[in-house]
Amino acid sequence: MSKYSKDVIQMLYEHQSEYISGQYIATQLSISRTAVKKVIDRLKEEGCHIESVNQRGYRLIDLPDKWYSGIVLPLIQQQDCFDHVEVHSSVDSTQLLAKQLLVGNNDSYLVLSDEQTKGRGRFNRPWNSSRGKGLWMSLVLRPQVPFSMITTFNLFIALGIRDAIQQFSLDPVTVKWPNDVYIDGRKVCGFLTEMVANNDGIEAVICGIGINMNHYAEDFEGELSSKATSMRLHANEKINRYAFLQRLIKEINYRYNQFVKQPFSDIREEYIEASNIWNKSLRFTENDETIDGRAIDIDQDGFLIIEDKQGQQRKLMSADIEL
Ligand code: BTN
Repeated sequence: MSKYSKDVIQMLYEHQSEYISGQYIATQLSISRTAVKKVIDRLKEEGCHIESVNQRGYRLIDLPDKWYSGIVLPLIQQQDCFDHVEVHSSVDSTQLLAKQLLVGNNDSYLVLSDEQTKGRGRFNRPWNSSRGKGLWMSLVLRPQVPFSMITTFNLFIALGIRDAIQQFSLDPVTVKWPNDVYIDGRKVCGFLTEMVANNDGIEAVICGIGINMNHYAEDFEGELSSKATSMRLHANEKINRYAFLQRLIKEINYRYNQFVKQPFSDIREEYIEASNIWNKSLRFTENDETIDGRAIDIDQDGFLIIEDKQGQQRKLMSADIEL
């Protein structure tokens, strides 16, 4: 991205309903009008739909399926949980990059990429992260809380993601303990949380979130064709990635502050209500052990209480659940 692309796209985005002149942009950025034109041409090549009208200037009609830091940054700055954002066109994994970036600073930030070449899910499974379709991002947060509280982090964040997706979905959005979000029996989002800690406590929490935003049904191949869904398929229209990101960050910010200040018991009822695991036969896998049974409760600490086929109750801290 050229040096001035970030500023030009931000100006166009902020003035979306009107034309802004090349001279105005040039003056704001202290560059020539020719330089402005070059930046605009570059943005058009990337797929930005920018209208140029003689005597009036430029107007942004539509954005491509691409993240621009000039637009993401103002959205992030409206919330207090992040200091900055890293926006990439392609990375191996936002989670790997987020972990590399946390060394030697105490910042909280967001890493976003249009595609991931080595996206990974829980249990190191490959995570399909094709360009332009989804929201692939990692959050680095610095909660000042005891280690023991970290088990409930996922449960707060799951509700934040659920609430954001629900704003765009015509169908009910549910959570699958501990870190999946579903619509209509299919997974729309998965996330994973890792922690870096030292003797003094938690140094950072790195939460990687993958959301299928604008996939068509035919984009899900093989096993995914019967298990995955996207927000678009439940909105009957294309999702505006920036509007969704803004909502998501707002909901995550709210739930993160709640996590830091309140015990899980305060949201337990709400979490239970949002869960899709009740009243059905399930298969749980925890530490290579597979248990067939059903979920019966979530306790005050966020552990899942299950009952196996023999009627024996067990408490799970984290597990893979097959619906
Ligand atoms: C899962 O359901 O297994 C969790 C999937 C997490 C995927 C996200 S996409 C952004 C971040 N980068 C990764 O490599 N993984 C997470």
